Amino acid sequence: MATEELKALETQATADLAAAADEPKLREWNTKYFGDSGLMKAALGKLGKLPKDQKAAYGAEVNRVKAALTAAYEAASAEAKEKALQASLTSNPLDVTLPGRSRARGRLHPATQIMRQINAIFADLGFQVYRTREVETDELNFENLNMPAHHPARDMWDTFFTTTPGVVLRTHTSPGQIHVMREAAGKPIRVILPGMCYRNEAISTRSEIQFYQVEGLVVGAGVTMADLKGTITAFARRMFGPERQVRIRSSYFPFTEPSIEVDIDWPKDDPNRDRLTKGTGWLEIMGAGMVHPNVLRAGGYDPEAVTGFAFGMGPQRMLMLKHAIDDIRLFWQNDLRFLRQF
Ligand code: FA5
Repeated sequence: MATEELKALETQATADLAAAADEPKLREWNTKYFGDSGLMKAALGKLGKLPKDQKAAYGAEVNRVKAALTAAYEAASAEAKEKALQASLTSNPLDVTLPGRSRARGRLHPATQIMRQINAIFADLGFQVYRTREVETDELNFENLNMPAHHPARDMWDTFFTTTPGVVLRTHTSPGQIHVMREAAGKPIRVILPGMCYRNEAISTRSEIQFYQVEGLVVGAGVTMADLKGTITAFARRMFGPERQVRIRSSYFPFTEPSIEVDIDWPKDDPNRDRLTKGTGWLEIMGAGMVHPNVLRAGGYDPEAVTGFAFGMGPQRMLMLKHAIDDIRLFWQNDLRFLRQF
């Protein structure tokens, strides 16, 4: 008799559970059957009052029913939770019960870092930052820089030409000098011009087809080569520290006269030193010189009244020198194992 009551209880409880549509209803069900004064508890309590011969069978059955109902309740609860979550996700896409997603923190690309460092050093030296275009006319990239069409010095810059005649990707930041002079219209100038340059040359450990340059231009009455050397040395001290050596040697550029090139010594303890410096121990970081009178004229300045100096440096070469990086191609390969080190 008692076990039949249990069967009836199980049937009723199972039917009630199936009818409990949501979490509040399920909680009500749980109280009704498993609460302190619930039906399951009452059924368990009956065990003590039964005649001895019925106890074993009843005990086994009551425990089976309890376990079966508990399992069914847990399954129903899990299902109801999932249903509620899905409903809330579709009705309101923001689910505040989900754990937050941590945001990956980025960092600046090493080339951007050094560009900012260069800007900061020159800002301290009283230079303004000026940006100019990356697509230039042949006239500004070459002619105004004292390189007419036939000039053999054009061979120093392997050029990317566009399909528009007379329009090129700038091979250096030097055409920016003309833009600045024309805009400053006779006033004294002290600027740097950072930006991307493009050259159709063989990619190697030291040369890319796309690279940054930072041009510098100072124009005014009485500007001398001593000012240029002082500026470059002050810059190199700040960028590389007092231990590293700076070498200035004479060179040739059509748009400066006289012209120089500046080298920094490669870290002495680096095993790649010979390979990267072609056995010299030095790596060139910039070309520079006194602005050629023809260039001053092209910019609208009178070479009788003013003089100027200019330089064009390679920030990525400087990064290589600072950290003994053995391949310039690493900068644009976007390999996070390399980039994360900076
Ligand atoms: C020039 O481009 C001149 N316009 C520099 C200049 C400016 C001279 C003003 C006088 C007055 P050059 O080709 O040497 O010069 O390049 C200057 C610097 O850019 C180099 O020292 C080097 O650091 C960097 N550079 C040049 N070519 C590459 C390349 N393919 N990849 C990476 N860096 C380069």
